[in-house]
Amino acid sequence: MSNVFSLVDEYLGELFTLEDQALIDTRQSIVHHGFPQHSVSATQGQLLYLLAKMCKSKRIIEIGTLGGYSTIWLGRALSPEGKLISIEIEPTYAQLARQNIKRTNLSAQLEIITGEAMKVLQNLDQNHGPVDLFFMDADKPNYISYFKWALENSRAGSLIIADNIIREGKILDLNSRDEKVIGVRNYLTMLSKEDRVNTSILPMVGKKEFDGIAISRVK
Ligand code: DHB
Ligand code: MG
Repeated sequence: MSNVFSLVDEYLGELFTLEDQALIDTRQSIVHHGFPQHSVSATQGQLLYLLAKMCKSKRIIEIGTLGGYSTIWLGRALSPEGKLISIEIEPTYAQLARQNIKRTNLSAQLEIITGEAMKVLQNLDQNHGPVDLFFMDADKPNYISYFKWALENSRAGSLIIADNIIREGKILDLNSRDEKVIGVRNYLTMLSKEDRVNTSILPMVGKKEFDGIAISRVK
């Protein structure tokens, strides 16, 4: 079954010509470096792009840059004066992302910061206005901390999006000892009780098997 999910994802990506050369090169660079194949798919990238456009993003923060694939999708949705900061803990990933971004015309709008995300967030200059879109795609045990920071730095209508919240259904396992599963289970439980946002959980199938994102809109 999962093969058909992957083939449909590929078919749709090609039908809509979602990836240009910069995105193709970025995806391939991650393979060539032997880094984890954890980038969003092209169809998911397009969804992030649309969501960022819909909330008229001037300020985007991403946690977990990897090779910069989703960074490029989100960066292309910024308004002309907009800025995106992407935080990556692994210096070799951050370096590759910086190279990949040079192939786009987004260099002036995108900044990759290497470091531990909570520390970087706490040291960010807060004089730039609210964050319009916050995308977390990194260490799952810290999702709740990232959410709290994002909510405090948001406006009505901001989106807080979290990747990998289904994990091939492993979130059903109440006794899981997998810290990623426990992390997203805690995140989902927190969201279910958080009345300062409206949340839609979007299960997804495709190249990345069965997973999904949580989209929360600040009231
Ligand atoms: C994992 C992380 C991701 O960001 C992703 O999209 C898929 C899997 C992981 O750590 O397992
Ligand atoms: Mg992910």
